Amino acid sequence: MLFLPLLATLFLIACHPQQQSAAQSGGINPYAYSIQKKTVADHGAVVSAHPLASKVGVSILKKGGNAIDAAIATQLALAVVYPNAGNLGGGGFMVARLGNGELLSLDYREMAPGAAHRDMYIDKDGNARTDKSQDGHLSSGVPGTVAGLFASHQYGKLPFEQLIQPAIELAEKGFAISEREARSLNNLQTDLKQYNSIMPVFVKEKWKAGDTLVQTDLANTLKRIRDKGKAGFYEGETARLIVEEMKRGGGIISYEDLKNYVAKFRTPHQFTYKGYQIVGMPMPSSGGLLLHQMMKMIEGRNIAAMGFHSLEAIQLMTEVERRAFADRAEYMGDADYYKVPVAMLSNEVYLQERMKNYNPAKATPSTDIKPGVLLKAESEETTHLSVIDQQGNAVAITTTLNNSYGSRTVVGGAGFFLNDEMDDFSIKPGVPNMYGAVGGEANAIKAGKRMLSSMTPTLVLKDNQPYIVVGTPGGTTIPTQIFQTLVNILEFNMSAEDAVYKPKFHHQWLPDELVIETGFPASVKEAMKKMGYHFANERSGIGRTEIIKVLPNGKFEAVADKRGDDAAEGY
Ligand code: GLY
Repeated sequence: MLFLPLLATLFLIACHPQQQSAAQSGGINPYAYSIQKKTVADHGAVVSAHPLASKVGVSILKKGGNAIDAAIATQLALAVVYPNAGNLGGGGFMVARLGNGELLSLDYREMAPGAAHRDMYIDKDGNARTDKSQDGHLSSGVPGTVAGLFASHQYGKLPFEQLIQPAIELAEKGFAISEREARSLNNLQTDLKQYNSIMPVFVKEKWKAGDTLVQTDLANTLKRIRDKGKAGFYEGETARLIVEEMKRGGGIISYEDLKNYVAKFRTPHQFTYKGYQIVGMPMPSSGGLLLHQMMKMIEGRNIAAMGFHSLEAIQLMTEVERRAFADRAEYMGDADYYKVPVAMLSNEVYLQERMKNYNPAKATPSTDIKPGVLLKAESEETTHLSVIDQQGNAVAITTTLNNSYGSRTVVGGAGFFLNDEMDDFSIKPGVPNMYGAVGGEANAIKAGKRMLSSMTPTLVLKDNQPYIVVGTPGGTTIPTQIFQTLVNILEFNMSAEDAVYKPKFHHQWLPDELVIETGFPASVKEAMKKMGYHFANERSGIGRTEIIKVLPNGKFEAVADKRGDDAAEGY
């Protein structure tokens, strides 16, 4: 076990021995735990946004589960201990490589409810109502997470009851919250009161580090899922509670929408980069294709010789990000509903053509690539977990409620937050969503359609074996963070830790500005300003990347991002 004392916010939450719950069956004490940022493991590893969830995942590996089992248990635990983004009421994507070499991508993205329609967020004066698409009952798509857990379970080894039990215990007996979680819940109080008529357990005058969060309603929902499987969520009591909640707040998710929800296995989006095989998520996530476009636009340009964080490298990557995101706005959406020209957009000749107006001496204004409008930027919250085992199974899962705590609505009596994923559709052509991303016909709202995502769970294979398992939250910044993390490793030869921890940047075509993280080299910023680049306000953190890299000796180097309470566990 390797601790990084300076980087890991190592904390020990006050222990309440009288509260020892059965959740410790896997050696986990939810009232006293520390955050481990890095580990090198022999048998398997889990990296996620919360130390308790990572520990649950490793406990499943130790009991003979494989990486799929561990990923399921970790997601369920995150739904309890990381309510910002861990979820039952949201959706996600899984990219996996099985021990037998089979590659999977599983889509459990939310779907637009049956009563949804293209103009549902446009008022009588023609104004886009982002207040309705971003918060409250009408912002929720039909949740996909529980269907996704069961669809992936066919590749697991342990019974589902065993995988869900730690989450039930964490919800029922509670766990101690961290300082960051206390802060986050305190900031949420006004919204909780605004978007709920039945006050959830998260409402409290003041949360502080070490407080125990018990979620009895959520524990009961988890038990229904344990006892009745997928139907324990999409039918019966849980469905009734969701539909009742919708009625209380003017939402439109119906019994039929819930019953009809399906998770879909899709063909992974694959490409090669200098001999590495990169496996990502296809539509309805833009992540795999954007990563493909960005990597291919730099492949022939010897970026390694330019040097990490050099003016030349950052300017090239910025221009590549700008061009890929311009294509996202125009062409990308749910391919079940819109013909996304994936082959054309990833064609090498097309991508070289795309770089024809690239000028290493100055910025290419976004208006020269496609016409645009000014946009706003907002908060980004999603969560990623990476899992690997010694049987050659590797799993990358990114899952989300969209915004932090989603719609801010907790299903009364069921204890979980609903997503606000409808805002990831283009609610009106040219009107930015909460990430400032624009879209048009390709990503217009339609009943049953899945909203375009940026989530980029990614595997890199070397000689056909798992080499890197990676992903991050961060809305539209997700693909650019994965792009930079991979370039840091594959081109700049960095350790996994440096690749994740070094300051990042982000350009998404519109708004035409470069977002930079604290620590971005000041001299590069000044030089780029002279070249015509505009800079957004600096951010203290971009993304929370969770990575596992297979070392030459076969051990697993697992690194959790320093930008949150994220934790790496292994054995
Ligand atoms: N909700 C963020 C995304 O899917 O990209």
